[in-house]
Amino acid sequence: MHQAPVQDPLSLLTSRFREAMLASFPDLPADIDPLIKACAQADLGDFQCNAAMSLAKRVGKPPREVAKTLVAAAKVGDLVEPLTEASIAGPGFINIRLRSDALSAAATSLDTPSLGLEPASPAQTVVVDLMGVNLAKQMHVGHLRSPIIGDALARTFERLGHTVIRQNHVGDWGLPIAMVTARLIELSQAGRLDLAKVTLDDLDAAYRTAQAECQRDLAGLEACRRFGLGPKATAECEAQVEGATEKFVAARATLVKLQAKEPATYAVWKVIQKVTMDVCIAACRRLHVNVTDEHSAGESSYADELAPMVADLESRGIAELDQGALIVRLDTPEYGSIKEPCLVRKTDGGYLYATTDIAAIRRRVQQFGADRIVYAIDARQNLHLRQIFGAGRKAGYARNKRTGLDAVMEHAAFGSVLGEDGRPFKTRSGESVKLADLLEETVTRAMAQVRSRNPESSEAECRVIAENLGMSALKYADLVNDRVRDYVFSFDRMLAFEGNTGPYLLYALVRILNIFRKAAEAGVGETWKGVPIRCEDAAEKNLAIALLRYPATVRSVADSLEPHRLCQYLFDLAGCFSTFYDQCPTLKADGPVRDGRLRLCHLTRRVLEDGLKVLGLPTVERM
Ligand code: ARG
Repeated sequence: MHQAPVQDPLSLLTSRFREAMLASFPDLPADIDPLIKACAQADLGDFQCNAAMSLAKRVGKPPREVAKTLVAAAKVGDLVEPLTEASIAGPGFINIRLRSDALSAAATSLDTPSLGLEPASPAQTVVVDLMGVNLAKQMHVGHLRSPIIGDALARTFERLGHTVIRQNHVGDWGLPIAMVTARLIELSQAGRLDLAKVTLDDLDAAYRTAQAECQRDLAGLEACRRFGLGPKATAECEAQVEGATEKFVAARATLVKLQAKEPATYAVWKVIQKVTMDVCIAACRRLHVNVTDEHSAGESSYADELAPMVADLESRGIAELDQGALIVRLDTPEYGSIKEPCLVRKTDGGYLYATTDIAAIRRRVQQFGADRIVYAIDARQNLHLRQIFGAGRKAGYARNKRTGLDAVMEHAAFGSVLGEDGRPFKTRSGESVKLADLLEETVTRAMAQVRSRNPESSEAECRVIAENLGMSALKYADLVNDRVRDYVFSFDRMLAFEGNTGPYLLYALVRILNIFRKAAEAGVGETWKGVPIRCEDAAEKNLAIALLRYPATVRSVADSLEPHRLCQYLFDLAGCFSTFYDQCPTLKADGPVRDGRLRLCHLTRRVLEDGLKVLGLPTVERM
């Protein structure tokens, strides 16, 4: 599928040693792992092959003898220093040292515009479902992860040449939204709210009130009756429930008007939509997340499709009636063996979250031609997603006509953001933190750092740096974790210059930029551009070996949907660069050495910048 990749030494050695194993011991399975690892002791080699020990048991020969056989059979002379008996250590480790010229040639061949990532062929159409805000609800820390992870995945697919369609599945429809709409109409008619000046906080408050009013103590009334709590309590609850029912009826009426796009009602809904989306899109912009208005595909956009779709499901027997409700059964292996059926229409005729999501699968595959749909959504929605995947497949909506295959639908599930106390992240007073405030505080804290490090720089200059530094720190702190795990949010940790952090990576880049700035100041010409990358000293070799892992790393993110692999890679790369920086002077070296190192620095810069861009992390030129 992939074009012949620039060969990274690890995978080359792996395949060559596998060939040697199979040639020497033909009974081994074809996918036998030759266990090539980075050498535990750098002075002994760059890599080691650990296969002899386990192979010895399998073939019934002493491990050192097996190692000797492999050393003789491995056709690696073009890559590594000659392998001899002296290469075998201890019980049968084979130490492998790469040839400098071979490594240099490989690294130099990576230095092309594509950096070893030729466009995937065939290119796929990948839909990424990300963000998914709900109208009239304030954005808080819970909204961080979907856009950050979803956008990083989308950028990864784009980098590999796929066609990416981002979809912000906005929760903008249904009874809850109608309730807020009704409440806003009521407030504005009473002169208690100016619709022209309404904020997301107002909407959030209206949402809470409306919800509370509609639900007021049905359970309480039930309890009064059941436990005979007396006429006073019962009457009180009855009054509340009656009020609630009244509100409920009003909300239902509003929903009907909304569905018919009755102008006055629809206009209020539009206000709610604009106020929410403005906050959402602004947050995305500040986060350097590529989600704009054009990516909005709200639940409302599917509203008219639901009745005909459900009729289709019913008439083809995909869905069946069960006590008045319409369900899709998924308890067979081809649909995921899910006990809980997918409910697509309630007894009262209403449609659900799942119904809309099935319509979304249909649009994404049938209209957009998706080969793959990736959902960057909270782990708690996993059952919901498995259900709609199963239902979408059962209905045939997931079948891509171009390929004849079902689109691959995957849940890129993520855990929660926790406070330092290990509980859900909240302010001191127990409120959830507004997303906009969180971003602002990140930048304010970054600003303090930037100022203390750059006392000479102007306020405005520092602001620009702090903005990008802060956003990168915040995003990196999210992406670096295993996606499905919860993580603890800590300003101090994310903004530290040491450790596996965004600032550490940006700092590595800034150091490289400084080398080139100084080179220009010293009048060093661009002779380095034509020389081979230098891979003589251990630190140079390690850096080159790390660089060569880049293409495979990006591909593995696309396959596994795990951006943390790229984070870890960039952290390792920055570490290799830092060692090189300490051990191998560049501008102080003689002409040819200097040029070979400058070219190595330049490739490091390109890979770092490319990787940061794939993750969606803005960079800085100084810090
Ligand atoms: N609005 C949803 C929620 O807040 C998230 C939407 C995710 N996307 C989807 N296709 N269901 O839970």
